Amino acid sequence: MKRRLMSVCTLALSAATLSAWAAPLGLPPVPIPANNPQSEAKIKLGDKLFHDTRFSSTGKVSCATCHDVKKAFTDSPLKTSQGVNKLTGTRNAPTVINAAYFHKQFWDGRSADLEDQSQHPFINPIEMGLPDHTPILNIVRKDAEYAKAFKAVFDKAGEQITMDEVKKSIASFERTIISGNSAFDRYYFGNDKKALNPAQLRGFQVFVGQGRCVSCHVIEQDQALFTDNRFHNIGVGISKIQQDAPKLAGEFLKAKAQGADVDKSVLINPKTSELGRFAVTDLFDDMGAFKTSTLRNIAQTAPYMHDGSLKTLQEVVTHYNNGGVIKKGDKVNDYLSGGIRPLNLNNQQMADLVAFLQALSSPEFATTKPAKTTQAAK
Ligand code: HEC
Ligand code: HEC
Repeated sequence: MKRRLMSVCTLALSAATLSAWAAPLGLPPVPIPANNPQSEAKIKLGDKLFHDTRFSSTGKVSCATCHDVKKAFTDSPLKTSQGVNKLTGTRNAPTVINAAYFHKQFWDGRSADLEDQSQHPFINPIEMGLPDHTPILNIVRKDAEYAKAFKAVFDKAGEQITMDEVKKSIASFERTIISGNSAFDRYYFGNDKKALNPAQLRGFQVFVGQGRCVSCHVIEQDQALFTDNRFHNIGVGISKIQQDAPKLAGEFLKAKAQGADVDKSVLINPKTSELGRFAVTDLFDDMGAFKTSTLRNIAQTAPYMHDGSLKTLQEVVTHYNNGGVIKKGDKVNDYLSGGIRPLNLNNQQMADLVAFLQALSSPEFATTKPAKTTQAAK
């Protein structure tokens, strides 16, 4: 199946772009939906849309404002993202790198795919702030360059151009933001035994052994996405609503039944945000659960977690070592995943684990300076 997808997608492209399409070391072929095949012109159009600040209420914010190539497609070191008029939301911007592989988009998976995801930021009041999608269509239908591109890619003009074509183009572009070939990949999949230094090697043993990180941040025989594409409550942020969770959940379900927009509710209201996957499934088992992040290029994207509450990789490792709480002995939350328990790692093992996480950066992003997070945490 995977192989077939690959040949379909490579067939559609000219020989010159083939090398760009072979997945980098450590990654499987990029899944391409049958109803949105890749083409060079479509990718270029998506790139332009992704960077266009005119699609925001202030004319200053584009997708790239919060997913900046220079910051490994995040807005590091911001704790939570800043949209129009410097309004901040509740969540930390995840990277778009390798998002093409995720089975669901957003921290809580409320979006099924990249196409669907791409329509939301435009009309979220704290992101790009448009009242609806009409201003975007007004621009792409009239702007000469866009008109030409939409004609060439979709054979559509004027009123025939809808958000469907806009979404497909952005998603196509995002499916080219793929990166692997980290030191870890060269060691594990490329058989370069010198690619990891001794601390990183010991850290790898902790990652797959006593640390049990690999049970969720998956490494397979021939590829590593570092995610199980599932949702877990690992004890981040939930303390903010610990006592109120059942009450908040009830209120949320009522508002949802009355038509409240989930995308807006979770990004604007800090308490609603902490409901996590529950906000999508209405299941108490999903309370405070978020999608397992990919760990690729993690050294470049501090601060960490859905709420940006952990400033450094050291803090992340400490959080896990304490069994899902920042301070040893703090009460764990009622909905904590069974996979999160105190790890009893010593200081050396924790430092080694951090060294290993730093070996997951791809060469094209490893040059980005690790983010300083001094102003990030509140
Ligand atoms: C104001 C900052 C901001 C802007 C502008 C923005 N994003 Fe995001 N993006 C975020 C945040 C924050 C999240 C996480 C939200 C959540 O999960 O609830 C996110 C999530 C995503 C994800 C999901 C990744 C994953 O791991 O699940 C993708 C893909 C994405 N954005 C692409 C885009 C595209 C395309 C645009 C433009 C149409 C855009 N973003 C505009 C901040 C922003
Ligand atoms: C039970 C599954 C599970 C286990 C085990 C696990 N993680 Fe995670 N990891 C997650 C989830 C889910 C998130 C996102 C949580 C959130 O934001 O609330 C995450 C987030 C992270 C992040 C932050 C990613 C980002 O982009 O902000 C890092 C770093 C991380 N994990 C490293 C580790 C390490 C190291 C271990 C082993 C000590 C580990 N994880 C074990 C599920 C797990």
